Formats: sequence, structure tokens, C-alpha cells
Amino acid sequence: MFVVAGATGRVGSATAHGLLAAGAAVRVLVRRPAAVRQWADRGADARVLDLSDRAALTSALTGANGVFLLLPFNLTVPGPEAHSRVLVAAAAGAVADAGVPRVVVLSSGGADLSTGTGPVVGLHHLEESLRKTGTTVTALRSGHFQEKVVDVLDVARRHGVYPVFAASADVPRAMGATRDIGAVAARALLSPPSSNEVVDVLGPDHTEREVAGVLGTALGRRLEVVPLPEDAWESTLRDTGLPSPAAAALAELYRADERGLLAPRGDRSVRLTTPVEHTVAGLVAAAVVPR
Ligand SMILES: NC(=O)c1ccc[n+]([C@@H]2O[C@H](COP(=O)([O-])OP(=O)(O)OC[C@H]3O[C@@H](n4cnc5c(N)ncnc54)[C@H](OP(=O)(O)O)[C@@H]3O)[C@@H](O)[C@H]2O)c1
Repeated sequence: MFVVAGATGRVGSATAHGLLAAGAAVRVLVRRPAAVRQWADRGADARVLDLSDRAALTSALTGANGVFLLLPFNLTVPGPEAHSRVLVAAAAGAVADAGVPRVVVLSSGGADLSTGTGPVVGLHHLEESLRKTGTTVTALRSGHFQEKVVDVLDVARRHGVYPVFAASADVPRAMGATRDIGAVAARALLSPPSSNEVVDVLGPDHTEREVAGVLGTALGRRLEVVPLPEDAWESTLRDTGLPSPAAAALAELYRADERGLLAPRGDRSVRLTTPVEHTVAGLVAAAVVPR
């Protein structure tokens, strides 16, 4: 039996679907009781819990052959770092307490670094804490998610603007579809390595200008690509409604990206294939954005 956290989210749901499609027994972890039914209908066992609850998590992980874990970023809490530490302690504690033999963890490029990468520092601690439990860890270090285009969908549709938190919109970066990452996670659980490994999970390379073109096509309007100066990142993020600590953390993440700190440095890499056009078209079709 495999346990999948974050099953109502993008990568977690794709992971659970991949495992179910392979005929595996799956237990999903959800935090809203309303999400139980949809998974029960698909043949999965569902447990309702908060990932900060070590005891509930230990109970849900007991007997598992393998577990998919993630560290959800919560940018609305007053102290995102403290919140992340609580989740990391609960996850590693539960993996140790339940004696889970292997873990696939959704991580990020830059998670080998202990400072200077904003929210990715939490993923560094999660990877490290899990390895200390003695379980076998596959860390999937992803680059940018293609789905992050959702963050600018509203401003693009309303104002015809595609903001870029980087000095240039013309630097290619790997951008992967979350459904592909979930498929990699499911495979890693079904065919685990014999020792810890770090896998860079990399989508096709695209520049922000290319993605803006794809989004413009899907929206049926031309978008103006606007790279924002670095000293405006934090205040712009605050203007979108983010609390100051989250805005500061994200600005640090973008600076880390500019400096190449999120580059792949794993033991091996996997190339993802879903084209960004496919992902963006699906997001635009699914979005209910008032004009
Ligand atoms: N965005 C990127 O470009 C990027 C790049 C590399 C790595 N990452 C990593 O990917 C993660 C996001 O993955 P994703 O996009 O699949 O996530 P997502 O779609 O945002 O879903 C997050 C999932 O976690 C659940 N969740 C959140 N807080 C919880 C809690 N306290 N207890 C129980 N469940 C909780 C959510 O449940 P609800 O449905 O109830 O909210 C949801 O199922 C990030 O946090 C980061 O670690 C992101």
C-alpha cells in the first residue's frame, strides 16, 4: 500500500492516479472531508488529516510500502518559516515512528542549499530530515511548474500584461507539467532505488517571453511582457496581497533563480514531455476569470 499526501493538489493527485492506474493499493491524505468521496469512488482509501499532526500522520503511514510527501507552501501564515518547520518535523517524525521503508519527496532545484533560496530552504530541511530517519529517500527536484502561469492569468486577461520577476524574459528555464512530475513520483514508488537518490525533474526549456506568447494565443490577445526590476519584486508581491514575510521569501527565491542557485545538481535527471501549450490551454479553459 502506498500513501500519497496532498492528493487534492496537482502533483499529489497525479501521483495517486498513476499508482491506481498501475493497480496499486493507495491511501490518500486529504485535509477536507469533502474530498474523501471522490477518492473512495476511484478505489482509494482516504484519511482526513493535517500534515502538521504527527500522530495522525504516523497512524496513516503505518504499514505503507512507500509514501509520497510534499511541503505545501503556505504564503498566508504570519510566519511561513516556522510553519514549514512544523510540517517538516511532523513528516520526518511520522516517517520514523511508522517505520516507512521509502519516501518520494517533491522537492525543488536548490534544495541542496541551506540558505538563500526563500521557501526552498524548507525543502532542504525536509530532504535532510527524511534522510536522517533511515528511510530510503527519492528527492524529486523540480524546476518551474508550467502551472505557475495561473498566477498571472488574471492580470494577463484583464490588462494584457505578463509580468516577469526576472531581469530578462529571454532566459530559457526548464518548466515541467505537474502531471508529468506525478507520473515520475508514482514510478519511483513502484520501482524504488536501493539507496537515496536526488532526481532533477526537468520539463522542456522555455523563456518567459515564449510562455507569454503561448498564453496570449490561448487567451486570444497580445500580451505585453514586463520584466520587473529586482528592487520592485518585494513591494509588487506585497501589492498583490501577500504578507511581508511571504513577499520577502519569494523575492529571495527569484534572486536565487537569477543567480543560478536553483540549477540541477542531482544524481540523475528525468526529462518531462508535456508541452507548455497543452498545459496553458487546459488552465485557460478551466479558469473562471471574470472579464
Ligand atoms: N511552483 C513551483 O514552480 C514549484 C517548483 C518546485 C517545487 N515546488 C513544490 O511543489 C509544492 C506544491 O505542489 P503542488 O502544486 O502539487 O501543490 P498544490 O496543488 O498547491 O496542492 C497542495 C496540496 O497540499 C494540501 N495541503 C496543504 N496544506 C496542508 C496541510 N497543512 N495539511 C494537509 N494537506 C495540506 C492541499 O490540500 P487542500 O486541497 O485542502 O488545500 C493540496 O492537496 C510546493 O509547495 C513546493 O514545495 C513547486
